[in-house]
Amino acid sequence: MIQGNGVKGLYEMGLKTLPKQYIHPLEERMSMMTNKVVPQESIPIIDMSNNNNNNCDVEDAICDAAEKWGFFQVINHGVPTQVLENVKDATYRFYELAAEEKVKYTKENSPTKHVRYGSSFSPEAEKALEWKDYLSLFYVSEDEAIATWPYACRNEALEYMKKSEALIKRLLNILMKRLNVKEIDETKEALLMGSKRINLNYYPVCPNHDLTVAIGRHSDVSTLTILLQDQTGGLFVRTEDRRGWIHVPPIPGALVINIGDALQIMSNGRYKSIEHRVTANGSKTRVSVPIFVNPRPSDVIGPFLEVLASDGEKAKYKNVLYSDYVKHFFRKAHDGKMTIEYAK
Ligand code: SIN
Ligand code: FE2
Repeated sequence: MIQGNGVKGLYEMGLKTLPKQYIHPLEERMSMMTNKVVPQESIPIIDMSNNNNNNCDVEDAICDAAEKWGFFQVINHGVPTQVLENVKDATYRFYELAAEEKVKYTKENSPTKHVRYGSSFSPEAEKALEWKDYLSLFYVSEDEAIATWPYACRNEALEYMKKSEALIKRLLNILMKRLNVKEIDETKEALLMGSKRINLNYYPVCPNHDLTVAIGRHSDVSTLTILLQDQTGGLFVRTEDRRGWIHVPPIPGALVINIGDALQIMSNGRYKSIEHRVTANGSKTRVSVPIFVNPRPSDVIGPFLEVLASDGEKAKYKNVLYSDYVKHFFRKAHDGKMTIEYAK
């Protein structure tokens, strides 16, 4: 019974074969030749401490990675390892709650639309479901979080958000410099990081895992995503030539950073929001905890004037209300890079 216990519940029932609603078409399966894994490629791993690199090298490495790959990993990023371990533990703690406890946070039952527990991505719109449970927490204020987020994970999720704030600001400052945005004033700060969402993702062991996906091909709608993954692996990123996929190897203590659609739009395509996906695993549970750093829902986003002014560049995207953009994303199943067409 999925209600209240998600795909984790299906796994715990001892299911030996994958239910047919989870079977994805051949072309979406990672085992297909068309979804070739390119083992010799890897996204950059950037050491953010100033001891080994001088700051200029770090800044160039970050901007180059954002332009070329849209994805990179950071080490020595300043978020304490213990904070990362604690939020992973808290993720397990939430999913280990009884179904009667978790069901309080489903779409039908949650007392607030800022807290949502569910499975798959957009079940009403999907032809095939994804093998994933999530708890999604939209951050409004600390007081609201304390009042509404599940006790099993709220302190750890809040601490992870708080402790990653300096990293987020540093990354955005660096990325803005290359776009000729000299100063992040209040308006820019709201556009770049005016709202945040943290997801606690749980991917149970999956029977016939080759026939399904944990998360289908998509790009994020954020400005930046800060992703904590465990040691299981399974996250794949499209190569630059779009012909293959690169695995993002788990590195203890590292964080994966990716550019989302909002920043691709604001940078007029300079920084790339890249398609990625997660494979289901036949022998190990996986957890991941992304923080989606977003504009505010009420913001209108479009290419920054500083980017267009530099050499009279034409705008590749029109202005869109961010909440409309996000609604458009959630109305459909995961469909690769299609969401950004909405801003063209
Ligand atoms: C996501 O793409 O939203 C999550 C990726 C992951 O679980 O690694
Ligand atoms: Fe994503």
